[in-house]
Amino acid sequence: MKALVLSGGMGTRLRPLTHSMAKQLVPVANKPVLVHCLENIRAIGVREVGIIVGDHADEIAAAIGDGSRLGLRITYIRQQAPLGLAHCVAIAEDFLGDDDFVMYLGDNVLVEGIGDAAESFAARRPAAQIMVTKVLDPRQYGVAEVGADRVVRALVEKPRHPRSDLAVIGVYFFTPAIHDAVRAVPPSARGELEITDAIQHLVTGGRTVTAVEYSGYWQDTGKIDGLLECNRVLLNRVEAEVRGRVDEESVLDGAVIVEPGATVVRSRLTGPLVVGADTVVQDSRVGPHTSLGAGCTVHGADIEDSILLDGAVLDGVRPVRASLIGRGAKVTSPPGTRAHQLVVGDDCRAVVA
Ligand code: G1P
Repeated sequence: MKALVLSGGMGTRLRPLTHSMAKQLVPVANKPVLVHCLENIRAIGVREVGIIVGDHADEIAAAIGDGSRLGLRITYIRQQAPLGLAHCVAIAEDFLGDDDFVMYLGDNVLVEGIGDAAESFAARRPAAQIMVTKVLDPRQYGVAEVGADRVVRALVEKPRHPRSDLAVIGVYFFTPAIHDAVRAVPPSARGELEITDAIQHLVTGGRTVTAVEYSGYWQDTGKIDGLLECNRVLLNRVEAEVRGRVDEESVLDGAVIVEPGATVVRSRLTGPLVVGADTVVQDSRVGPHTSLGAGCTVHGADIEDSILLDGAVLDGVRPVRASLIGRGAKVTSPPGTRAHQLVVGDDCRAVVA
């Protein structure tokens, strides 16, 4: 069994961060989403992983390397343009050969892993197996109609009138039967080769496609709200660990992680939260549910339910809630400031209290 991880795409829903970085490298609980995904793949015993990369190819290769740090062997496969999930399977055909494989969208986080799904696939070995979960608004996902014995009867991509509440999660198990199906389907109305259409092609052709219902926490982190929610859920599972320096005037409460080289001075930290390596927190209130990246500065601030990427600066601003602050971005309120001064780049949003 191999794995194919999709890490291309434009990430338009995560702008402005994705103007300068791959959405799969955005950290949740201070670990890139893509690493959460690769760890789940490693946990089911797969070692051979192909990663589909687009414009951010170099940055992804720099972050993940040859995979040896994660116990994986990684092959990068370049996709020249985001032409759809089934197009990714088509360009990976040489890498995949005659093997079964798990295809994993690199922006999907499944907190409880994919072990149960991998076992069901191995036990029954249908032509394809999808994972589904009940959602309130299925219209923004692939939607599956599932019959007796977990057999998929129909699959539709983002239907206007969904016929079930089962959304398709971005983790698929395939036998090589998917390759002919990918070749058989035409591009969709949005000009992409849809994996949903290729799987539906298997169903129409009488092949068995099954669905496994996932009851754990799943999130498509391609959107800001989803990313912050996922950060909360992952932080709820961390344990306190202080490896940086905390002065005597600071108070730490709950699951607080202070990474090596970080300094906390005269501050109140309420977990769960993580303070990244070499970050300085001074005269501030942080948490709960906050991830501060590496090399950040948080001064005289009050921040909760937020993510700061590496090198971000927050100075004199309070209270900050539900915020995502990019690498090296500065949000400050020097004494005596009378007006908001905003230098925000393309597609940013600032909500000023
Ligand atoms: C893709 C799939 C969709 C699936 C979703 C899960 O959608 O096309 O069927 O439900 O991932 O994350 P996208 O996020 O590309 O819109």
